[in-house]
Amino acid sequence: MQDSFGRDIKYMRISITDRCNLRCKYCMPADGLKNKLTHADILSYDEIIKIVRVAKSLGIEAVRITGGEPLVRKGVPDLVRELSKIVDVSLTTNATLLPKYAMELKNAGLSRINISIDTLDANAYKEITRVGNLDEAIAGLEAVLDAGFDPVKINAVAMKGIKQNYNDFARLTFEKPVHVRFIEYMSIGDIEGKYISEEEIKAQINADLHPVSGPIGSGPAHYYQLDGAKGTIGFITSQSNHFCNTCNRIRLTADGKIRPCLFSDVEYDVRSGNIKDVLENAIKNKPAGHEGKSGTFRHMSQIGG
Ligand code: 5AD
Ligand code: SF4
Repeated sequence: MQDSFGRDIKYMRISITDRCNLRCKYCMPADGLKNKLTHADILSYDEIIKIVRVAKSLGIEAVRITGGEPLVRKGVPDLVRELSKIVDVSLTTNATLLPKYAMELKNAGLSRINISIDTLDANAYKEITRVGNLDEAIAGLEAVLDAGFDPVKINAVAMKGIKQNYNDFARLTFEKPVHVRFIEYMSIGDIEGKYISEEEIKAQINADLHPVSGPIGSGPAHYYQLDGAKGTIGFITSQSNHFCNTCNRIRLTADGKIRPCLFSDVEYDVRSGNIKDVLENAIKNKPAGHEGKSGTFRHMSQIGG
């Protein structure tokens, strides 16, 4: 269905938990969330499946499962199996649990996986994630490639004050058929920080990046390739170059709130009435954009990126 600005809303991100086994600096407070959701707050898989059925009848064609870290919740392959009978299903994960789940997810019908790894430097990875181990994330990436997922995308949040070395990612696109996307850091919740722009990253890579069309499911990213590389390098410039006018998505939080805009705290509770009415109302009231707005009361781990 179209919103009041004529944008076709086709895509829903579904956060299935606010918990995570990592504590990325830009996503969660150091000591974890204070107001963690309880079992009763969290939508059951049956509720999610019901919502997705209704969403499909309103034109949602694809959903992405997010968290927190979605794979810390039990039974994700079962959810994927049911949802993929209804719509295209993809997943965003920090990859640490993929050695266990990659094959099972593939067999359940998952179409694509995005992996969040912000640096390929082991010390910097530990610093950013506070508790993570880069080897575990890389093992997850290998497991996804071995399971036959294609395309495989890597999300790296580009933010000042963390050591990322963008050339390591450029090199990775020669070694593996992966699509690395640099995402400008968005100031959400109470975590301060400044993004690094596409121009700064390109200057650091300092090689001939020629524009290419990206892999399917690219959303707002645009892509480049280095000569002879297997993979590509993309940018999601939500801060330096807003793309609100082509935004096709809504978000469902783990506690059942539809957020028509990442940057707006206006939410619609799917448990407050008839699901179809709530979804229609949320889509109708999707704001034009996030110009001038930044902070929200939720942390990113409570929205799902
Ligand atoms: N700004 C930009 N991207 C973020 N992500 C999490 N927090 C932020 C933020 N503040 C990314 C994650 C993940 C995706 C779901 O969102 O790294 O790749
Ligand atoms: Fe966890 Fe992802 Fe947030 Fe890091 S960015 S704390 S991996 S949810």
